[in-house]
Amino acid sequence: MIGKVEKIINGGWGIIRDNNKIVFLNYVLPGEEVEYSIKDKAKGIFWGETLNILSPSPYRKKPECSLFGECGGCVFQHIDYEYQTQIKTDIFIDDMKRIGSMNIKPDIFYKSPTYGYRIRGRLKAKESGKIGFIKKGTHTIIQIDNCLLFSEEMNSYLLDWNKQKNPPFFFQQDISYIENHDKSIHSYLSHSPKDDQKQKLDAFKSTTYSWKENSNSFVKLKIKDFEYRIKPSTFFQVNKYQFENMLDFVEDSLFKTEKAIDLYSGVGFFVPLLLKYSKKVIAVESYTESIKLAEQSFPDAKFINTNVDKFNFVKADIIIADPPRSGLSKYVIGNIIRLKYKRLIYISCSSATFARDAKILRDNGYSIKKLALIDLFPQTPHIEIMSVFDKL
Ligand SMILES: C[S@@+](CC[C@H](N)C(=O)[O-])C[C@H]1O[C@@H](n2cnc3c(N)ncnc32)[C@H](O)[C@@H]1O
Repeated sequence: MIGKVEKIINGGWGIIRDNNKIVFLNYVLPGEEVEYSIKDKAKGIFWGETLNILSPSPYRKKPECSLFGECGGCVFQHIDYEYQTQIKTDIFIDDMKRIGSMNIKPDIFYKSPTYGYRIRGRLKAKESGKIGFIKKGTHTIIQIDNCLLFSEEMNSYLLDWNKQKNPPFFFQQDISYIENHDKSIHSYLSHSPKDDQKQKLDAFKSTTYSWKENSNSFVKLKIKDFEYRIKPSTFFQVNKYQFENMLDFVEDSLFKTEKAIDLYSGVGFFVPLLLKYSKKVIAVESYTESIKLAEQSFPDAKFINTNVDKFNFVKADIIIADPPRSGLSKYVIGNIIRLKYKRLIYISCSSATFARDAKILRDNGYSIKKLALIDLFPQTPHIEIMSVFDKL
């Protein structure tokens, strides 16, 4: 079959309309004429396989990684970076129109260096003990000696690990490298090593290992004047080039207040900023490990270790919400509307749920004052939305 790619949608899929059918294809670009076959059908959607690109887009480029298409990590490496940012903007605008019934464009797009931006990553092991990522659409692991999204230091760890003849088997390792911490790779192992495994781990001199039973160690990360404590199991933003942009966006939106609330606070990424502007800061987070670290980093804030859906909302002038992809629950959004916070700073990693929530907020007296897209994950379809809503 032959068809023309109409656009790219959420998840990075290209769509082709074929009479009454909508076909989803990977690794294509808008405007391209492609030859394809249908591989699968589920719930009225056809999943296709691209056989030939008949008229390549001028924005198509050669992927830099030899494992592109095989590894499940990157989806956009065949697209010129400037055009990736255009596609992400278009997906956002489209979701805001379709789901949020709003014609709105971001005020600013924060681009990122395209490779080497990750400070942490999760590796899985093959039976041989060599480590890598899951192969796209399968449960098998492909060995990775070099990931272009990782820093040089993380990559030399991968290479050294996989160079071993019989590496010790840990089904999962979370590795991180924080430049301004201690110049060592931190690896969090899926289980405690046996004696013979410990000897092999000792061979990696600049690596700090931890696992569940000895997981009290944390890494300190300095951004601007702030020092955060993080562990492999706690959430932290991964793109080192965007930390300051995210903080600056929030700081530009703050004003002096008596009280501010930070929902889904993690290890307190936005808390030191709130402490600069508010006499009292309440931060809410469900993951106990994150709360414990945040309390040590920012003792002047009040941390509440609970699910936001159980949080007893109180009045304040400013509220930040940075939820997971599912967005704001009815309980959370209902309380924001009920308590009429003057300003809501809403950070979202899903344009679909953001559009849904923005519509509810607009219908209940909030208007968008500032809107930015921030690219935390070049080479993937993901985009972060940073926004400021004011109560009219
Ligand atoms: C996207 S992260 C944001 C963390 C933090 N704002 C940051 O920038 O580092 C979302 C956080 O919300 C927490 N979380 C997820 N669901 C939650 C819930 N229902 N109640 C409270 N916290 C939740 C997660 O543990 C995670 O730390």
